[in-house]
Amino acid sequence: MEKIILTGDRPTGRLHLGHYVGSLKRRVELQNSGEYDKIFIMIADAQALTDNADNPEKVRQNIVEVALDYLSVGLDPAKSTLFIQSMVPELTELTFYYANLVTVSRLQRNPTVKSEIQMRNFETSIPVGFFTYPISQAADITAFKATTVPVGEDQMPMLEQCQEIVRKFNSVYDEALVEPKILLPENDACLRLPGTDGKAKMSKSLGNAIYLADDEKELKNKVMSMYTDPDHIRVEDPGKVEGNAVFTYLDAFSKPEDFEEFLPDYKNLDELKDHYKRGGLGDVKVKKFLIKILEKELAPIRARRKQWEQNIQGVYEILKKGSEVAEAVAAQTLADVKAAMKINYFDDGALIREQMEKYGNK
Ligand code: TRP
Repeated sequence: MEKIILTGDRPTGRLHLGHYVGSLKRRVELQNSGEYDKIFIMIADAQALTDNADNPEKVRQNIVEVALDYLSVGLDPAKSTLFIQSMVPELTELTFYYANLVTVSRLQRNPTVKSEIQMRNFETSIPVGFFTYPISQAADITAFKATTVPVGEDQMPMLEQCQEIVRKFNSVYDEALVEPKILLPENDACLRLPGTDGKAKMSKSLGNAIYLADDEKELKNKVMSMYTDPDHIRVEDPGKVEGNAVFTYLDAFSKPEDFEEFLPDYKNLDELKDHYKRGGLGDVKVKKFLIKILEKELAPIRARRKQWEQNIQGVYEILKKGSEVAEAVAAQTLADVKAAMKINYFDDGALIREQMEKYGNK
């Protein structure tokens, strides 16, 4: 069986470090591993509209921002198909058919949908499109017969719901769909990178994000004002590393060779943590180390972004070509789905002959 990746992001803002360690970095590694036959990376504008229906301008503006972030982290249009969800109308048709295989109560139990309803204060006025977006996400994944979906932990319930739809479809109709597997980050700190304020999640709406497109000065300011251990007041005080965002970022980003290069007094992160816990290690020193590590990782990304920013026409062309390739693949799957559901009337010679016989046509 072919190994196929599909994943994507909603275009509601620039991508940040949470996206980077949670999924983007992995995608680039998978892309460059050469182990996958096809890779599809989708800008999920239709999904973004499910909770931004009154703000299409925001979605429209952020298509190119997300595309620039993709290209700048090293997603390569020669190896990965970058496309826009709404340019592949087959996805909505698949969603319509899959909707028959999902109950309202099952959607109500989806933990991601539940928490998003709370976060957005939808409560009694949940848009139907928003409520059913897990079904549409199952269409996104299955349209490409994806075997692997690299995403953050918050997407787990979406994948589970997709797997259920695939099983149900394949048992009710003919086996036309492929059941995908989720691929989560291996490192715990990457699974859920906290915001710079130490809150559970980095997000634009919480104002606690470091963006891939931030310049060096913004990066420094954000790290210098990061949340650490509020009880670690004087340098000689013992400090806590659990729940200390600076150390969580070091867990996510630091490599053994970074110590040799930037902080040779310590062999590794454990030694640094031990010193912090004992007391005698100031936050500023640790933050400066983190800045060097992040700067090393982000500088090439920023430079590549600057180049692509000079070629916006080219970026749109990549998305247009990618969307054409994606549509051709989705159209084939839709044809398979319709055949499995026996709604491919004009391709079904046996059906036409049967009806002719029934009416005695010669
Ligand atoms: N739900 C994802 C997000 O919020 C975006 C997305 C849409 C997606 N369709 C997908 C991710 C299919 C993986 C697979 O970022």
